[in-house]
Amino acid sequence: MFAFCREASLALSALEPAEIIENFNVTDPVAMLSAIKRLGNNRMDWLIHVSGILRNENLEQLTQRSLVRQLSVNAVGPMLTVQTFLPYLARPAKIGLLTSRLGSITENSTGGYYGYRMSKSALNIAGKSLSKDLHRKGIAVFLLHPGYVRTEMTGFSGDINASESAKGLIKIMNEKTLQETGTFWHVTGRKIPW
Ligand SMILES: NC(=O)c1ccc[n+]([C@@H]2O[C@H](COP(=O)([O-])OP(=O)(O)OC[C@H]3O[C@@H](n4cnc5c(N)ncnc54)[C@H](OP(=O)(O)O)[C@@H]3O)[C@@H](O)[C@H]2O)c1
Repeated sequence: MFAFCREASLALSALEPAEIIENFNVTDPVAMLSAIKRLGNNRMDWLIHVSGILRNENLEQLTQRSLVRQLSVNAVGPMLTVQTFLPYLARPAKIGLLTSRLGSITENSTGGYYGYRMSKSALNIAGKSLSKDLHRKGIAVFLLHPGYVRTEMTGFSGDINASESAKGLIKIMNEKTLQETGTFWHVTGRKIPW
């Protein structure tokens, strides 16, 4: 197992037997290409893209900078990550992209979160295109909502902890097949509408 990150944390370092590869910044394609070389001849069965940012701006406060930053990290970053990892994926393989229910247009009942919602919707449609393009290579793509998780992003409020969320997401990744590629799942196992 390999864990790509910008800089290892204590929690990540405690993950055995993960090999940690640093300097993987999803907004820096040159750094990504340099970090990926560390995989050598290894081929991966799963790629799970986790990184993301949330700026809780409202209509009055939002800025171009904030919107573009969220699009860059949350939508462009995962696309570039998949492109970078593609030569290193086994056949068959599975890709899980951590998106958010806030990116669902159907389930947007409260508004707000402009940049975050826009970026996760963009990621969702990118994931759908990837599912079409990668199907013939035997690579399945799933859009995953981790739940409301107690992490730094939520100020450590939420319904579940990171380990419960990870278990749920791994279960989904294990269960879903290429036949179900290009679908959007809640950590509880509920299919989320676009
Ligand atoms: N927590 C929730 O309730 C919730 C709900 C729905 C969806 N999500 C999604 O789940 C994913 C994980 O969220 P989280 O709650 O764990 O957030 P988090 O605690 O804020 O962690 C975000 C992670 O993304 C990394 N990251 C940010 N910018 C990056 C960049 N440019 N390049 C590489 N890595 C970068 C951060 O790395 P550094 O340590 O280097 O800063 C950090 O490890 C995100 O995609 C988020 O949108 C979370």
